[in-house]
Amino acid sequence: MLSKFAFSSVLALALVQARPTEAAPHAMLGRSTAEPSLTTQLRLADTAADRYALLPTDEDFVYDFSKNPALPLADGESFPALVGTGLSFSYSQLPGCGMTFVHLHPRATEIFAIASGRIHSEMVPEGGIVDSKGNQRVIKAEIGPGMMTIYPAGSFHTQVNPDCEAANFTAAFNSEDTGMSLVADQTFAFSDDIIARTFGKSIAGEDIDKVRHAIPNDLLIMVEECLAKCGKQKRQV
Ligand SMILES: *[C@@H]1O[C@H](CO)[C@@H](O)[C@H](O)[C@H]1NC(C)=O
Repeated sequence: MLSKFAFSSVLALALVQARPTEAAPHAMLGRSTAEPSLTTQLRLADTAADRYALLPTDEDFVYDFSKNPALPLADGESFPALVGTGLSFSYSQLPGCGMTFVHLHPRATEIFAIASGRIHSEMVPEGGIVDSKGNQRVIKAEIGPGMMTIYPAGSFHTQVNPDCEAANFTAAFNSEDTGMSLVADQTFAFSDDIIARTFGKSIAGEDIDKVRHAIPNDLLIMVEECLAKCGKQKRQV
C-alpha cells in the first residue's frame, strides 16, 4: 500500500479514478432534481453573463491546490469556474523514485512542465507512427526545471522520477473532463482466450491470471532499485 503522502502526490489524473463516490456523476441521481450541482448549472447556462452570475464571489475564481492535496486537479467538477473553458490544470509532485502507471487520457492532450526535480518521460503515440526502421515510435525525454513535454490525447505515457527528491510539476489539459485509462490493468480485463490470442499464445491458462494479479493496481508505483539507492523504504516515501 502507498503511504498517504505518496498517494496524495501521485499524478493528478491518476487520482480521478480515486474520487469519492459522492463526487461521481451518478451521485446526481441521489440529489434532488431541484438543485443540480453548480457545475451542471454552469453547463446549462445560456450565456457567459449567466455563468458569472452563478459565480458571485472572487473566491469562486481561485483554486487552492494546497487545500486539495488528495485531488491535485482543477477541472470542471472540482473547480466550476473552468466550465466553458475546455481546460483542466494540475499542480502536484511525483515523489522520489515514483513512477506513474502507463496511462492515457481519452479526451485530452496534456502538456507537462517541471518546476523542480527531474523526470524521465516516455510516450508511445498512436498506431502508424514509426521510426526510420519502421518500428513503433517511442518518444523519450528527460525534462527538468523550465522544460515541458506534450502527450497528445490517447497517447500512452509514463513518467519516472529517477531521483531521491520529489519532482514538482504542473500539467494542463484541453478538456474539463480528461478521463484516464490504465493500459496494463485494462488490457488484462479481457477474457483469458482474448488475452492468449492477443499475446501470440505466449501466455495461457493460469499464467494469464498470474500476470493479471501481478499488475499493481496502485496508481503510483515505486521503483525498487531507486529506493535502494536512496536508502528509502517503500513506506517512507
Ligand atoms: C515542491 O512542492 C512542495 C509542495 O508544494 C514544496 O513544499 C516544495 O518547496 C517544492 N520544491 C521546490 C524545490 O520548489
